Amino acid sequence: MKKEDAQKLAFELRQKIEEHNYRYYVLDDPEISDAEYDGLMRQLQEIERKFPDLITPDSPTQRVGGQVQAGFAQVVHPLPMLSLDNALNLNELREFARRAKNLAPEAHLEFVVELKVDGLAVSLQYENGLFIRGATRGNGEIGEDITHNLRTVKSIPLRLREPVTVEVRGEVYMPRASFLQLNAEREKEGLPPFANPRNAAAGSLRQLDPKIAASRNLNMVTYALGASPDFRPATHYEALMTLKDLGLRITPQIEVFQTVEEVMQYCESWRERRFNLPFDIDGMVIKINDLAVQEKLGATAKSPRWAIAYKFPAEQAETRVKEITVQVGRIGTLTPIAELEPVLLAGTVVKRASLHNEDILRQKDVHIGDHVIVQKAGDIIPEIVSVVKEKRIGNEKPFTMPENCPACGSAVSRLPGEVALRCFNANCPAQVLERIVHFASRNAMDIEGLGVAGAQQLLEAGLIADVADIYQLPHKRDELLRLERKAEKSVENLIAAIEASKEQPLWRLLYGLGIRFVGERTAKLLADHYGSLDRILAATPEELEAVPEIGPKIAQSIYEFSSLKESRELIERLRKAGLNFVQEKAGDGSRTLQGKLFVLTGTLPTYSRSEATKLIEQAGGKVTGSVSRNTDYVVAGEKPGSKLTKAQQLGITVIDEAGLKELLAAKEE
Ligand code: IVH
Repeated sequence: MKKEDAQKLAFELRQKIEEHNYRYYVLDDPEISDAEYDGLMRQLQEIERKFPDLITPDSPTQRVGGQVQAGFAQVVHPLPMLSLDNALNLNELREFARRAKNLAPEAHLEFVVELKVDGLAVSLQYENGLFIRGATRGNGEIGEDITHNLRTVKSIPLRLREPVTVEVRGEVYMPRASFLQLNAEREKEGLPPFANPRNAAAGSLRQLDPKIAASRNLNMVTYALGASPDFRPATHYEALMTLKDLGLRITPQIEVFQTVEEVMQYCESWRERRFNLPFDIDGMVIKINDLAVQEKLGATAKSPRWAIAYKFPAEQAETRVKEITVQVGRIGTLTPIAELEPVLLAGTVVKRASLHNEDILRQKDVHIGDHVIVQKAGDIIPEIVSVVKEKRIGNEKPFTMPENCPACGSAVSRLPGEVALRCFNANCPAQVLERIVHFASRNAMDIEGLGVAGAQQLLEAGLIADVADIYQLPHKRDELLRLERKAEKSVENLIAAIEASKEQPLWRLLYGLGIRFVGERTAKLLADHYGSLDRILAATPEELEAVPEIGPKIAQSIYEFSSLKESRELIERLRKAGLNFVQEKAGDGSRTLQGKLFVLTGTLPTYSRSEATKLIEQAGGKVTGSVSRNTDYVVAGEKPGSKLTKAQQLGITVIDEAGLKELLAAKEE
């Protein structure tokens, strides 16, 4: 291709990609499937690879910059970033409106009500349409420059739809499903989980290496114009529409009301409905619509007089700590767990709460026998908020972490810089058990029958001592049959599951090995990149780090694993047993949605759009942007668009999220 042609094509591809981004993130109405979108991206990458000097900083391929930052530069906000006063009930809301009316008696007050997304406030600076800088709120006057991380957030446009100079403000957050997935992966990797989606989002933006933020599925909504001399909207609502036209995602579900009563009713309508949103909100924000009135009302040192937050309290309950136990994880981490008297909280029964580590246990000062207040952090994971000290009667027992591992008795200690106590005995039965269970788990080698109970029984009977021994079990049929509760049928099933697991794709094996920091995503990246286990384990840390998204910690951990004599022996035994060590091109073997065409419309209660897409694609299905006669299923959520009507006209099966889950679950059987 000639360079002029390449330049023209690159320009067109970028425009197309930006347009599809806008349809996907801002209008929530994609026209093409993810696969088609990826195709466009690949074409652009290919051109930029051949002609590197055609790369522009705002090219959609340039979201993750190569450089790890040395630190965070300070950014002085052109206008201070204030916070909001809270109203906790109708009276306080009335009081807010009355104060405003006193200060602006001639005005007819109109209120805009938005969701209060629970994330992190950020400011984005655009110059001539280009995203040049993004910063945290910091102390309100000065924030930190996190441009390198914000560029990786796909809903933040690198270029606006007009070449204007504006500052915009908004919230970066992590969808609940992504948070749960991230935490599940972190726990498997032996990392402490994040307490809630907000902390996870904050932790992701506080990284110096943009690869981490890029791997975290962060999202962003904008809710205000900042310093923007070119724009003079008359109302806040108009300002929001301007943001949307510029290509920025605004908070969904914005309404305008004339009276406080209507405002209140609308806010209350979200108290329960909020749990169906794919992200957490901690309340609603009420803003006076007229910007002239806003200006007149001004602000106190801390917060504007023209806006207020209506907060939903986190659901809490009181219960008692029956016992504190200590769990030993796969890499030997000791975690104190509060065993609770069961209590109903936000719709589920809570029986246990993690106390995370010794520092947190001390900080919260939880004793055995204490009455405690529990809440679901980010409405998901139960956590102990506080101890009801007034209820102590004197027989509560303080708890100290053991000096020896409760499973193997060896002395426990901390690695420098880590808060967690660890048992370093690689043969510790608790760790051995966890390693086997992890290896056999559904997301790894998927060997049914090797859950905690099953694996424990085999360990105790001396039939296995590590994961490689699993593959000797088919030769030990008689011993298996002699075990308690092992009927002929379950032995057959176990052996069949073990045999089948030998064909699992490479990434599952790699993930199953339980190397620290190697979660599912990392395993897939490495399997794709290297194509064989031997090549992955032969790589130097430098080579591993050159793989996109692989950081020094992961690289070092893999290298340490592969350098161990024990690991090398284990790998050889797995090879002898006939396990698949190479990348299988066809996919992951459980593809019952093979060839099925899906269209998504509306907001699903728990899955985000990209998550639903990923799950469907993993099962072999395809997601496209528009409904046609070839569509097999339309998955409809809240506020479905015209796609639903079209599906009904064409007589295409319409299912909801529960229906989708059923289809996906069917593949597991
Ligand atoms: S307006 C001058 N609108 O809540 C105040 N804030 O507690 C500008 N937040 O720092 C804030 N959703 O991080 C506004 N729709 C929304 C919001 C929102 C979330 C956050 C924001 C702010 C905090 C105040």
